[in-house]
Formats: sequence, C-alpha cells, structure tokens
Amino acid sequence: MKYLLLLLPVFLFAKFASNESCKSCHPIIYEEFQKARHSHASLFKDPIHKAAWLISPDYKKKKYTCAKCHTPTDEKLLASFDYKQTIMPDINSTAQKDGVACAYCHRIKSIENNETQNINIISKKEHVYFGNLKDTIKNPFHKTANNKRFQNGNVCIGCHSHYRNKYGTNICSTNEHNELDSANCVSCHMPKVAGTPSNMKKRKQHAYHGFAGIHNDITMLSRYISVEILRGIDRFFIAINNLSPHALTLHPMRVMQLQVSVIRDKNVTNFKSKNFVRILGVDNNMTTPWKAKEIVKNTSIKGNEKRVSTYMYKLKKGDIVNIRIGYYLLSKKVAKSLGLQNNKKVNRFILLKQKVFIIKPNSFAPLQQ
Ligand code: HEC
Ligand code: HEC
Ligand code: HEC
Ligand code: HEC
Ligand code: HEC
Repeated sequence: MKYLLLLLPVFLFAKFASNESCKSCHPIIYEEFQKARHSHASLFKDPIHKAAWLISPDYKKKKYTCAKCHTPTDEKLLASFDYKQTIMPDINSTAQKDGVACAYCHRIKSIENNETQNINIISKKEHVYFGNLKDTIKNPFHKTANNKRFQNGNVCIGCHSHYRNKYGTNICSTNEHNELDSANCVSCHMPKVAGTPSNMKKRKQHAYHGFAGIHNDITMLSRYISVEILRGIDRFFIAINNLSPHALTLHPMRVMQLQVSVIRDKNVTNFKSKNFVRILGVDNNMTTPWKAKEIVKNTSIKGNEKRVSTYMYKLKKGDIVNIRIGYYLLSKKVAKSLGLQNNKKVNRFILLKQKVFIIKPNSFAPLQQ
C-alpha cells in the first residue's frame, strides 16, 4: 500500500513518454534533438530564459507561466498555474529536462486560434504519434497516425504564432494575423537529411530534428536570404532579399546586423553597421516585453521583402566588397538588463550569410548572390 501511494503521483502526472524512451529506436533523431533549442527550453538549460523570467512579473508573484510553451509536458506546473501556484520548476523532473518534448509535438492533434496565444489540442491517445511517413511498419511501443497540421508542416504555430501581453501588444510576430497558416515551417527548419528515421526500417532520409535557427545550424537557412549589389555613379546599394515568409527578427530581444566593408589596394574601409530590430516599449522608450504598450521601432525585414541599403562611396574596378549578415541573440541594452553582458557565448555575432563581390570595370548591372 505504501508503495502504491508513492507511485500514484507519477501515474497521475507522467502522461507523456520521455525523450529518453525514443532513443533506442530513433537514435539519429534523438542525437540531433540534443542540439535543438526545444531540448534547451527550460530555465535550467537556457540562461537567457532564466534571466528573463527573473525580471518578469511572474517571478515577483512566485509563478512560472512559461511552461505552456517552454516545458509543456510539465503537467504538475500546468495543472496548478491558474489558481494559486505553489509548485515551481523542479530541476530533476523529466519534463524540465525534456523541454518541448518529442511526445508533446507528436501528439498535437489540432491548434485552436486564440487572441492572446494559440492553444495546442493534445490527443488523448498516449501512444499514438502523428507524422508524415508513408507505409510505417508496426512497432511494440507506439502506433502512428496522420493529421492536417503535420501534412501542412505548420504544427509549430500553436507556440510560434503570437504572444500578447496584458496590454494586447504582440511580443513575437511570426503569424500575427494567421497569414502564415499555409506556410510550411518544416520545409525550411526541418529539411530532409541523410540517415534512417528509425533503426527498425532502413530509409534514406529523415526530417532534421536539430531545428535550424539562430542558436544552431543557422547556415542551413542561408539559402533563403539572397544578397545583391548595385553600383551607382557615386554610391552603391546592397539589397537583402528575404525569401522566407516571416520577418527576420521575430523575437524582440534579437538584433540582425548588416556589416559592409570595401577593400581597395589593401586598405579596408569599414562602413557603419546597420541594425534591423523590432523594439517594444511605452512612449518611445524600450521596456520589458511585459510592460510594452506599443512597437516603438520596427526595422525588421518583413517576410518576402527586399530591403535596400545605400552607401555613399564611389566604387571602382577591382574593389572587393565584403558583406556579412548575421545576428546577436540580445541587443546590448537587453543583455545588460538581464545581467548577461559578460556572457561571451550569448553575446557573440552569429553569421547567417557572407558574400564577397569583386567589382568589374563598368559593371553597373546588379551582381547577385
Ligand atoms: C505562447 C508560447 C510562449 C510562452 C507562453 C512563453 N514563450 Fe518564450 N518563447 C516562445 C517561443 C516560440 C520562443 C522562440 C522564439 C524565437 O526564437 O523567435 C521563445 C523564446 C524565448 C526566449 C529567447 C530564448 C533564447 O535563448 O534566445 C526568452 C528569453 C523567452 N522565450 C522568455 C519567456 C518567459 C520568461 C516566459 C514566461 C514569462 C515565456 N518566454 C513564455 C514561446 C513562448
Ligand atoms: C520500439 C521501437 C520504438 C520506440 C521506443 C519509439 N518508436 Fe517511433 N517508430 C518506430 C518505428 C519502427 C516507426 C516506423 C518507422 C518506419 O516505418 O520507417 C516509428 C515511427 C515514428 C514516427 C513517425 C510516424 C509517422 O506516421 O510518420 C514518429 C513521429 C515516432 N515514431 C515518434 C516516436 C516518439 C516520440 C517516441 C518516444 C516517445 C518513439 N517514437 C519511440 C519505433 C519506435
Ligand atoms: C510547445 C511549443 C512549441 C512548439 C509546438 C514548437 N516550438 Fe519551436 N520553440 C519553442 C520554444 C519555447 C523555443 C525557444 C526555446 C529557448 O530557446 O529557450 C523554440 C525555438 C525554436 C527555434 C529556434 C530559434 C532560434 O532562435 O534559434 C526554431 C527554429 C523553432 N523553434 C522552430 C519550430 C518549428 C519548425 C516547429 C514546428 C515543427 C516548432 N518550433 C514547434 C516552442 C515550440
Ligand atoms: C522559406 C524558408 C522558411 C520558412 C517557410 C519558415 N522559416 Fe523560419 N526562418 C527562416 C530564415 C531564413 C530565418 C532567419 C535565420 C535564422 O533565424 O536562423 C528563420 C528564422 C526563424 C526563427 C528564429 C527567429 C528569431 O528571431 O529567433 C524561428 C523561431 C522561425 N524561423 C520559425 C518559423 C516558423 C514557426 C515557421 C512557419 C510558420 C517558419 N519559421 C517558416 C526561413 C524560413
Ligand atoms: C517541435 C516539434 C517536434 C519535436 C519536439 C520533435 N519532432 Fe519529430 N517531427 C516533427 C515534425 C513536424 C515531423 C514531420 C517532418 C516532415 O513532415 O518532414 C517529425 C517527424 C518525425 C519522425 C518521422 C521521420 C521523418 O523523417 O518524418 C520521427 C520518427 C520523429 N519525428 C521522432 C521524433 C523524436 C524521437 C523526437 C525527440 C527526440 C522528436 N521527433 C521531436 C516535429 C517534432
């Protein structure tokens, strides 16, 4: 009887199979996933998330409401956060270790649109996982099934669509007006790579589970940004062409940067870097996302937009123009407000794309890519 009581809470809460339990049959996908942000989404694995929580209204109220998207299999936390929350994230819990867990994503049956944030509807069948493989073979651990969200490659927008604060300001901007409902997130962020999806049936390819993004594997996405240079008489223009359906700075803490230099006869001229940002705040001043009442500044390059920047410099034959486009995870101001300004890993420049053009005689036509 004593044992039964001890086991009871585990049965009540452990509704999602752990990531660990997928490892034996899906070793390649499991390994890739260790790199993905989704497996680093908890307070204990992401120093930026932790620092943000510590300055959020949540922390003052001794709450943790981030679980819904960051550690959505933490049933204990989620069950209690509506009323007086007494449970805090536990470093030893499987849900905190798993982050956005395998079994969670693979049980998203449908997504309900909601004003503040969308809601993932989770299938009640604990051991049926959705996916897009054809002719799956049977296995002793789980069944497989299909659904529309997986077919459309946008099972992501339950968490990535929008997140409004109490003033109605949208914090992330992937899909504010559901304009991306038909965009296939998977095609770019989970491209097909070599290796079998399970070791029980040999197949050539599987969907990449490292989830290419700013933190890791960013160069997998460089092909969706093209760069061109156009030479004017006394100036030149650089165009960044965003071939993705969403803006290039989604999270309000990020800074996208364009760095340009010209090399002429071994002399280097560095131009002032251009930043592309989306800053939230009140009365033209930046605030934390929770206090923001408006978008103070938005120079983020929009989905499918071509953005042209002008440089007052007369190019000539043989000049080498070096163009670098990349990101800082946090702006300097944000890093400081989070107390992370000395963390080298968090403050490094992350290169998305580099292009070098050599100026030809009298070539005024756009030089591409
Ligand atoms: C509606 C879902 C949702 C909720 C609720 C949510 N987040 Fe997030 N959060 C996301 C998504 C999606 C990302 C990734 C966005 C991106 O990279 O563009 C993210 C990323 C972040 C990041 C950037 C992490 C990094 O390492 O770069 C921070 C910081 C963050 N969230 C803080 C919080 C805090 C603090 C809370 C709770 C008060 C919270 N979030 C609640 C969905 C959510
Ligand atoms: C006993 C071995 C085994 C374990 C354990 C296992 N799987 Fe599978 N899984 C398989 C096999 C076999 C297939 C079918 C592979 C094929 O046909 O190529 C599969 C297919 C899948 C698919 C594809 C479904 C589709 O229709 O496209 C998903 C998703 C999946 N597994 C998720 C998981 C998750 C999540 C876990 C851990 C919680 C897990 N699996 C644990 C053996 C296993
Ligand atoms: C349960 C909520 C949830 C779902 C569903 C979800 N994500 Fe995420 N995603 C997050 C959170 C939270 C983060 C940020 C984790 C962190 O850094 O702390 C994130 C981070 C990312 C990042 C990394 C961004 C960066 O800055 O490096 C990418 C890329 C991403 N998600 C793509 C996807 C794709 C593609 C899908 C759909 C197949 C998806 N996500 C489904 C919650 C979710
Ligand atoms: C045509 C390719 C393409 C499609 C489709 C696409 N993305 Fe992206 N995504 C990109 C590129 C390029 C970047 C910028 C480079 C980067 O952040 O790694 C990016 C960046 C991101 C980031 C990180 C941004 C940040 O500020 O942290 C997230 C999260 C993300 N995409 C989620 C999604 C979701 C969700 C969908 C589906 C609604 C989607 N993407 C559809 C190409 C694509
Ligand atoms: C953020 C959501 C998300 C998470 C977390 C996630 N997957 Fe997937 N997974 C997907 C999507 C979407 C597909 C379908 C890809 C496609 O259609 O190309 C997929 C496909 C699969 C497949 C079928 C193989 C294939 O190439 O389509 C297997 C097996 C699988 N996942 C297992 C896992 C395992 C194991 C984990 C954890 C280690 C995991 N997934 C974590 C979203 C996720």
